[in-house]
Amino acid sequence: MTRERPDMAGAIAAPSILSADFARLPEALAIVDPARDWVHCDVMDHHFVPNLTFGPLIVKAVRALSRAFADVHLMIEHPERLIDAFAAAGADQLTVHVEARHDSGVAHVLKAIRAAGMRAGLSVRPGTPIEALEPHVEQVDLLLIMTVEPGFGGQAFMPGMMGKVRRAAEWRKARGLGYRIEVDGGIDPASAPLCREAGADTYVAGSSIYGQKRPLEALAALRAAIGA
Ligand code: DX5
Ligand code: ZN
Repeated sequence: MTRERPDMAGAIAAPSILSADFARLPEALAIVDPARDWVHCDVMDHHFVPNLTFGPLIVKAVRALSRAFADVHLMIEHPERLIDAFAAAGADQLTVHVEARHDSGVAHVLKAIRAAGMRAGLSVRPGTPIEALEPHVEQVDLLLIMTVEPGFGGQAFMPGMMGKVRRAAEWRKARGLGYRIEVDGGIDPASAPLCREAGADTYVAGSSIYGQKRPLEALAALRAAIGA
């Protein structure tokens, strides 16, 4: 499918299909508006995190079903080895964890993601200081601040991560950079405004959308909360 890119200047909601019913993936993706939202795909390998989800095959299916920007969050060791496979599957952005094992170093991996034609994101787990991202801020399109321990949907939002969001926003301003600041974990219309106030602009939400009786209305409520 031809891809659409939403206006990258404003706030963006990114529904996470992790909480969707995969037997009804077309219906889950139908609520995502390619002109405004991203679709967030959580790849887990049972090594970097205890959970095991999916790989390029499902990203390819998402690509075939939706024109939305495919925001792929890699919670895997050795992400470098799968860059080409995700590019071929149609991912628009690959976000890797700074804590993962990187065969030839984080800087090289970010470069390789861009060289493969995708946007590059870098993420931190709650226990990792934000300073771990600082050496790489000039080379990223997005910083992803985890607001839960990565691995599972439906966990409680950690307000203590807002200091990291603030730091990421300060670096961006001080250095005149343009990366997006994404939050992921426990995001709903109540927690999102705290992230917004701290400087976030991109909001991943799984259970607060797909765990609801009316996902379309839940997504509309999140958009309203973030000003998207
Ligand atoms: C967790 C994933 C999240 C997950 C969020 O490791 O990275 O993207 O889908 O789920 P909720 O929104 O339910 O916390
Ligand atoms: Zn995620």
